[in-house]
Amino acid sequence: MPLTRRHFLQAGLLAGAAPWLRARAAVAATASAPTLIDPRTLHAFVDPLPIPPVPHPERIARIDGAAVPHYRIVQRQVHAKLHRDLPPARLWVYGDSMPGPTLDVRAGQGMTVEWVNALPAKHFLPVDHTLMGSNKGQPDVRTVTHVHGGRTPPDSDGWPTDTRVPGQSQTYRYPLNQEAATLWYHDHAMGVARLNHYAGMMGMCLVRDAHEDALRLPRGEHELPLVLCDRLITAKGQLHYPVSENPKSPWVPEVFGNAVLVNGKLLPYMQVEPRRYRLRVVNAANGRFFRLRLSDGRPLVQIGSDQGLLHAPVDVEQLVLAPAERADLIVDFAPLAGKDVRLTNDGDPHGIVQFRVADSGRRDDSVVPDVLRDVPRLAASQAVRERNLTLNEYEHLSGLPMKMLLDGKYWHEKVTETPRLGDVEIWNLINLTDDSHPIHLHMVRFQILERRRFDSFAYRSRGTLRYTGAPQAPAPNELGWKDVAQAHGGMVTRIIVPFDGYAGRYVWHCHILEHAANEMMRPFEVRPRKA
Ligand code: C2O
Ligand code: CU
Ligand code: CU
Repeated sequence: MPLTRRHFLQAGLLAGAAPWLRARAAVAATASAPTLIDPRTLHAFVDPLPIPPVPHPERIARIDGAAVPHYRIVQRQVHAKLHRDLPPARLWVYGDSMPGPTLDVRAGQGMTVEWVNALPAKHFLPVDHTLMGSNKGQPDVRTVTHVHGGRTPPDSDGWPTDTRVPGQSQTYRYPLNQEAATLWYHDHAMGVARLNHYAGMMGMCLVRDAHEDALRLPRGEHELPLVLCDRLITAKGQLHYPVSENPKSPWVPEVFGNAVLVNGKLLPYMQVEPRRYRLRVVNAANGRFFRLRLSDGRPLVQIGSDQGLLHAPVDVEQLVLAPAERADLIVDFAPLAGKDVRLTNDGDPHGIVQFRVADSGRRDDSVVPDVLRDVPRLAASQAVRERNLTLNEYEHLSGLPMKMLLDGKYWHEKVTETPRLGDVEIWNLINLTDDSHPIHLHMVRFQILERRRFDSFAYRSRGTLRYTGAPQAPAPNELGWKDVAQAHGGMVTRIIVPFDGYAGRYVWHCHILEHAANEMMRPFEVRPRKA
């Protein structure tokens, strides 16, 4: 039976999909689509939650004369079971597993990494040769790694066309002159990152500093990385990436899976002690927004977001994480000794990962202070420039799939966002679509000032920005430093960005990877400071 989006709808599997996707008579998958598994038919919580290894540096390298750890991380094909009762899946990973090794590094010291492409010569997911960067002549298998959230010099940031093919490698330097934060790394190759990523190419990078060390948050075995992503899985246990009806252009505008992998496993469990744990969560999905809750009804305590600690812990009833957003959470299992609790998504009470709380444990000597870090809020008056930038969606008259663009411009057009190093700018993300797009800027951190409804007709027809609603303050867990902003449909999301770090060329894009692959990505260039 051909699997179409309508089938997903009927099965209720598109919950969490962007509203426009639900509303649209979307591209159907081809008739050759294989049978997919319904994860609800699998035994839940039979696999222990995998914890990715923390590698030791290979050797000591130098950045500007200073000694830093050097890692060598090989991208390769592996076969691993996504669930106990499924055959091993073909995956493309960093190191030996999906997610890859967790890089645990010091702010201000940094690291160098040799990223080695040892992948097979043929891609196993549907490459679209009509997309930018994927035109014929480009090898299908090409990779470039980006450390998401890193304040990285431009030559090491993972420019989307600075790719390597199997047999090649690239060595990047990461000074990490920034605050402690939950970073992650993933593939960024133009046009195929969505496929490489779906195949498993992602990992965590935890940046620590002395301020955070002094806080006595749960650490060591009581700190767990949780990398979340959704996948479609065939009856043979393999990843399935859907395609359009057009064999010449298999790109689809979004991909949603009914199976949520937590650290690469479907429905894993974790044995925990009755005490506080720190969960470092990243939404590593191609396009899904997660809506996370604890099954016992208690709020999640969020202590950090994309770019580090919040000023103070925030109780979150339901945590909405857009693709690429991170949340640093504290969960206290102490009241649950002898019981279990699940992290649930989208109101499905079954949960995506189960924590089994032991009867008794060692003493909990962790502390969650009332004030975590000084996070001075930036005021709009600090900005020297304000840019109006639209998020648009174009329907092709020819019946081809729509395209999403940033400020109406294609990737190859000349650079228009050219802040000066050290300047503070406001970017008004004017969302003319009906959907939420998670907008990410490389290299910098920013704050969300406010969101505001506006008259999109007036903007389209006359280019005037007329607000129709009062400014809405960001949610309490959005008050820290961010590098991804949920830009909601029909609203202007105003972000304030200090362009500190390095001069040079970077990218900003929607982190729905299918959008980014089809023109929803643009360069920006930080110009050097005035002499
Ligand atoms: Cu998470 Cu441009 O990247
Ligand atoms: Cu990034
Ligand atoms: Cu988007």
